[in-house]
Amino acid sequence: MKILITGGAGFIGSAVVRLAVARGHSVVNLDSLTYAANLENVASVSQSPLYAFEQADIRDRAALDRILARHRPDAIMHLAAESHVDRSIDGPGAFIETNVTGTYNLLEAARAWWSAEGRPERFRFHHISTDEVFGSLGETGQFTEATPYDPRSPYSASKAASDHLVRAWHETYGLPVVLTNCSNNYGPFHFPEKLVPVVILNALHGRPIPVYGDGGNVRDWLYVEDHADALLLVLERGRIGRSYNIGGENEARNIDLVRSICAHMDRLRPDAAPHDRLISFVADRPGHDRRYAIDPSRIRDELGWRPSVTVEEGLGRTVEWYLENQDWWRPLLARQGVGERLGTA
Ligand SMILES: NC(=O)c1ccc[n+]([C@@H]2O[C@H](COP(=O)([O-])OP(=O)(O)OC[C@H]3O[C@@H](n4cnc5c(N)ncnc54)[C@H](O)[C@@H]3O)[C@@H](O)[C@H]2O)c1
Repeated sequence: MKILITGGAGFIGSAVVRLAVARGHSVVNLDSLTYAANLENVASVSQSPLYAFEQADIRDRAALDRILARHRPDAIMHLAAESHVDRSIDGPGAFIETNVTGTYNLLEAARAWWSAEGRPERFRFHHISTDEVFGSLGETGQFTEATPYDPRSPYSASKAASDHLVRAWHETYGLPVVLTNCSNNYGPFHFPEKLVPVVILNALHGRPIPVYGDGGNVRDWLYVEDHADALLLVLERGRIGRSYNIGGENEARNIDLVRSICAHMDRLRPDAAPHDRLISFVADRPGHDRRYAIDPSRIRDELGWRPSVTVEEGLGRTVEWYLENQDWWRPLLARQGVGERLGTA
């Protein structure tokens, strides 16, 4: 397939780009290169004849039309987004513009292209979303694809809006879409403002490791390369008009996740052990969702997909990767907002 991947210079998008090229797909990476992007993430495939890069903004409809006409993709995987909840609290506007208006533009560009091509049946618009659209769970229960939407942050509200648009473009115009809602990803190339890399790098530098609130917030942790694998499977075999929840089958409280990372740091940097002495509880995020949990039955039963690594294995690989790839993350520490406490408004 020839796949247009938006947001392919970001964390998850780049994992999809690398895997798609490795599997012999032709990839066009469309990315505007915001603060969260890094073309180093795709350096391993950038010289491949299967790879092309287009710097463009999904808010720019004319650019999208040009790129679709130039590359004539069989499918679009839409990952470009503003993705950091704390930034959405400080500045929700960018989230509305990119995640809502940008998705609308991309849908319209895709619809125009697909219609002009005679509405090919095999075309797919795959929208990548988050479990955060479902809101917050109590002590029990899991999100299924039928769980009502209940977003509670500007980020999750903007993603929920984009999901609704994608479904509407399918119902109204017949655009062949598939959607996925996944849990928290972690792994190599994760921008150093998100929890897992923040913990690793603060532990490495002997700095306080910030844990929001009482650390009791529960997330389901999904290794990014497992996620990329699930996304390509849904693209190829998912039923049109359907959404699939993707989880790692790894529920953990934030504090336990942080302690696991510290244990890996103790193993790899024993001189500075114990790293968990650096844990420091800080003011909670406003509106912090308490618990997310994914029921992965649909993707497991329909498509036979399961995560390949446990959170222990995935965290071990991730910590090792950060220790071995300091040239990747050091320049990113100078980017705007990195290392600061954001989103306390
Ligand atoms: N990270 C997670 O745990 C997680 C979980 C569930 C869902 N998601 C979703 O997966 C997708 C990718 O997430 P991520 O963590 O890789 O994000 P990221 O912030 O690492 O990367 C986003 C990429 O999109 C690009 N981008 C942003 N605005 C753009 C615009 N207007 N036009 C073109 N490109 C633009 C950025 O330059 C960046 O390369 C997002 O849609 C996100 O909502 C992420």
